[in-house]
Amino acid sequence: MSNEQGRVAVITGAASGIGRGLAEHAAGLGMQLVLADVDGPGLQTLCAQLQGQGAQAIAQVTDVSDVTQVERLRDVVLAHFQRVDLLFNNAGVMQTGYSWEISHEQWQRMLAINLQGTINGIRSFVPLLLKQGHPAQVINTASLAGLLSSPLMAPYNVTKQAVVALSETLQFELSMLGAQVSVSVLCPGPVASEIMASNQARDQAGTAFSAVLDDSIRQGMTPRALAAQVFAALAEQRFWIFPHKDFKPALELRLRSILEETNPQFQMIDVQGDTHAAR
Ligand SMILES: NC(=O)c1ccc[n+]([C@@H]2O[C@H](COP(=O)([O-])OP(=O)(O)OC[C@H]3O[C@@H](n4cnc5c(N)ncnc54)[C@H](O)[C@@H]3O)[C@@H](O)[C@H]2O)c1
Repeated sequence: MSNEQGRVAVITGAASGIGRGLAEHAAGLGMQLVLADVDGPGLQTLCAQLQGQGAQAIAQVTDVSDVTQVERLRDVVLAHFQRVDLLFNNAGVMQTGYSWEISHEQWQRMLAINLQGTINGIRSFVPLLLKQGHPAQVINTASLAGLLSSPLMAPYNVTKQAVVALSETLQFELSMLGAQVSVSVLCPGPVASEIMASNQARDQAGTAFSAVLDDSIRQGMTPRALAAQVFAALAEQRFWIFPHKDFKPALELRLRSILEETNPQFQMIDVQGDTHAAR
């Protein structure tokens, strides 16, 4: 019997890509699952698949940008399983284009899902995790874009860097309290998923960049390989989860530019080397 048996994982953005990989891996460990997504049919398909493999899983259609729906998700989890061990704030979307060409509505959508969605998860679930009296983990999906800015994806950079800041702050606060709740921030490079379907690129540059990004994502690490790395990191309660490693020279350059007060230079990073190794 695995140590994970009977533990409860709540995963947002579970119907596809990284969330789906996490759900499949967790089910393989014998965990009980609460799958949340805006994509109802996708959720039902995954839920039926996991139940067919003997997993205890429930699906709850949830838009993470809507605080009422996230609170309802928490209430459903409590009613059904009476506990939460892992909370994955994972749902996210993409938007490419010049910062000034991206519409007000597109900026709002990115802030609402990628950032407010994570805040809603924390505000709705952390009080419960603190009250439970047993260890629990919060895992926020950011991105390498949470550490390094690239041109033509401003709302993604902005929201993912905010998710990193939010995760660090939460970790400090929970340590101050001596809480049994730990925090991790997942910062992957390209992972083969459907995220580019959520992109609403309008201007020419945003559309051209979207095609480049799409190519890199199609060749990215598989969600199952990523999930295996995530669960290994969670077993060690690691805060930083970096499934791709080749970004570190670029991060060093960024940090040096800050420390030495030199102007930032954009550097394309090639993560495909270790992406292929990890597939
Ligand atoms: N794929 C990559 O290369 C990559 C790299 C770094 C980080 N990420 C991050 O990983 C996370 C998962 O993305 P993915 O790549 O698996 O993409 P994906 O599109 O395959 O999966 C995202 C899921 O989130 C759901 N979703 C979208 N808006 C939602 C909302 N408002 N409420 C609830 N669910 C919603 C979608 O329906 C979809 O099922 C995102 O936060 C993304 O930013 C992805």
